[in-house]
Amino acid sequence: MKKMNRRWILRQRPVGDVCDDDLQLVEAPLPQPEDGEMLVRNIYLMVAPTNRVWMSQIDQYMAPVALGEVMRGVTMGVVIESRHPDFKPGDIVEGGMAWEEYSVTRTARRVPVAYDLPLHAFASVLGNSGMTAYFGMLDIARPKAGDTIVVSAAAGGVGSIAGQIGKILGCRVVGVAGGESKCRLVKEEYGLDACVDYKGGNVLADLRAACPDGIDVDFENVGGDTMDAVLALINPGAASRFAG
Ligand SMILES: NC(=O)c1ccc[n+]([C@@H]2O[C@H](COP(=O)([O-])OP(=O)(O)OC[C@H]3O[C@@H](n4cnc5c(N)ncnc54)[C@H](OP(=O)(O)O)[C@@H]3O)[C@@H](O)[C@H]2O)c1
Repeated sequence: MKKMNRRWILRQRPVGDVCDDDLQLVEAPLPQPEDGEMLVRNIYLMVAPTNRVWMSQIDQYMAPVALGEVMRGVTMGVVIESRHPDFKPGDIVEGGMAWEEYSVTRTARRVPVAYDLPLHAFASVLGNSGMTAYFGMLDIARPKAGDTIVVSAAAGGVGSIAGQIGKILGCRVVGVAGGESKCRLVKEEYGLDACVDYKGGNVLADLRAACPDGIDVDFENVGGDTMDAVLALINPGAASRFAG
């Protein structure tokens, strides 16, 4: 029987939150790699906030995904057929591919699988989310020991790592997250000093109580009302890393 590829097509542009009708699961013949390309069986799909942006017809850093096209995505997978000189079957690769079981690509990067770490670590803490947190904190925000850092979306992919880096650097780190269970996770699992539940209270008042010396670094992951509250308490000369 001919092997088929299952793929998610962008059927319509979302209004507000993405809903079931915006995407459609379709089957298509397995793609064939040409010279310089490889066929990848996707194992992980990284679903990040930027995917929602790609679905929209707005000015952005890449062209929006066209209606009727397969949804663009960052995936990690295993090479099962290669006509690329630098890759062979069995290699683990990561890169801009699509929401589908099999992708053809010529630009994926080799994943340096090592240290007996599970593969998913290279899709999270050692992948884009980890790098965004690491370089955002160490190259852009550059806090000093003793600084107060606020991390929004502190239970999220980037925020959970950024917060822990802040603690390693000797800072007071206050998270902002939505809901009691996420705030518990942020404090008990990630070790942050405090967490403000922006869905359960008054963000500005709760941040003021959690940051008695003001805020030296805003590790901003969401913008909007949360960022406005942080900026109201920001100290002169503070640093901000704003997630793009
Ligand atoms: N992941 C990456 O590789 C990467 C790379 C470059 C830039 N970024 C940027 O970094 C930021 C965080 O990305 P992420 O991958 O960590 O995202 P994520 O894990 O999906 O976390 C996003 C979180 O943002 C919070 N949120 C959503 N809407 C909100 C709103 N209206 N007000 C307040 N909070 C809201 C939600 O947390 P609560 O449930 O706690 O509300 C949500 O879980 C994004 O701006 C993203 O574009 C990410």
